[in-house]
Amino acid sequence: MSLLDVMKSAAALACAFAIGIPPASAAGPLAVRIGFVAPLSGDNARYGKDIENGARLAVEEANAQGLKIGDQAAHFDLVSEDDRADPRTGVEAAQRLTNQNVSAVVGHFNSGTTIPASRVYESAGIPMIVPAATNPLITSQGYENVFTVIPNDAQNAGAAGAYALDVLKAKRIAILDDRSAFGQGEADEFERVVRSRGGAIVVRDYAANPAGDFRPQLDKVKAADADLLFFGGLDVQAASIVKTMKAMGMRAQFVAGGGVVNRDFIQQAGAAAEGAMAWEYGRPLAALPEGQRFAQNYRNRYGVGVLAYAPFGYDAAWAAIRAMVAAKSSDPAALRAALKTIGFDGATGRIAFDERGALKNGVSTLYQVRQGAWTPVVTSGG
Ligand code: ALA
Repeated sequence: MSLLDVMKSAAALACAFAIGIPPASAAGPLAVRIGFVAPLSGDNARYGKDIENGARLAVEEANAQGLKIGDQAAHFDLVSEDDRADPRTGVEAAQRLTNQNVSAVVGHFNSGTTIPASRVYESAGIPMIVPAATNPLITSQGYENVFTVIPNDAQNAGAAGAYALDVLKAKRIAILDDRSAFGQGEADEFERVVRSRGGAIVVRDYAANPAGDFRPQLDKVKAADADLLFFGGLDVQAASIVKTMKAMGMRAQFVAGGGVVNRDFIQQAGAAAEGAMAWEYGRPLAALPEGQRFAQNYRNRYGVGVLAYAPFGYDAAWAAIRAMVAAKSSDPAALRAALKTIGFDGATGRIAFDERGALKNGVSTLYQVRQGAWTPVVTSGG
């Protein structure tokens, strides 16, 4: 280096200090990107935004706590994509996220998007932490990068099947579903348990039309004189079914799987909601100290109560953050290894994963609409 070069670099360094630019070797906070994906437009957007709100709360808390990854301060950013509840769009969204240098992904909402998108994360080696999709196939594909913080439908619809026979003493069972990967999967699990216990199924049918009211299928249920109807599908169709059942004067007890215990069902079903039963994943938030704290923080932050799966979005994002802190790295492979060993008390209960990435010791809670409000009846499993 010539004397002139030395003088030039000394001058540049002095100049940098004078205007406050840190020397190149000084480390700023480690910027960590966590992907988020769910339906953020269309009919399921209200669910997707609720989960996104939960995940964002976790990221904001982590930033406020000044967490370190190794000895470097970290700053977390949530990078969101909209999968529109559509399998093809879900795969494209997954590809966009894996191209954006995310350390992990919280998503998706629908089983129908989660299953095809899981392949994208698996081949990119990026952990996917599922907050709401519940088809058992998600964690039975043998993928290393798939983790779920929510119990699956073998647990949830399985509990519904056992309860229908053992407690409700149903003798003539009808099963309808919306033909989504979720609804059909729930109906299959419910049917499997009912059949394995010798229960009688008098109707098994479906309607794939999201705007449909299931009238033709309900005619069959009535003609078969069913005493219990299990429905696999989400809240809007469940509300439409209970209204039609009431209008038809049907005697069958209505029981749904997941995706129905929320204020939108009550609002849409009106008086027909009374007496409806549905099984949801996990325990009531009010039964868990962290759940109560989360529900209050959510309301303070967003000015509205939790709709449905926000607490699972929060726990999924915290699982990613805790795993990075434990691994002392935001590298997806290190994070994946740490996810296999973490355990913590989240808003939805204890979060730890089994060898397939499924939530350990998942439980389900039966709710019934009593005097216009979803009321917990019993918790099963664990
Ligand atoms: N649990 C629902 C699904 O799997 C939301 O699609």
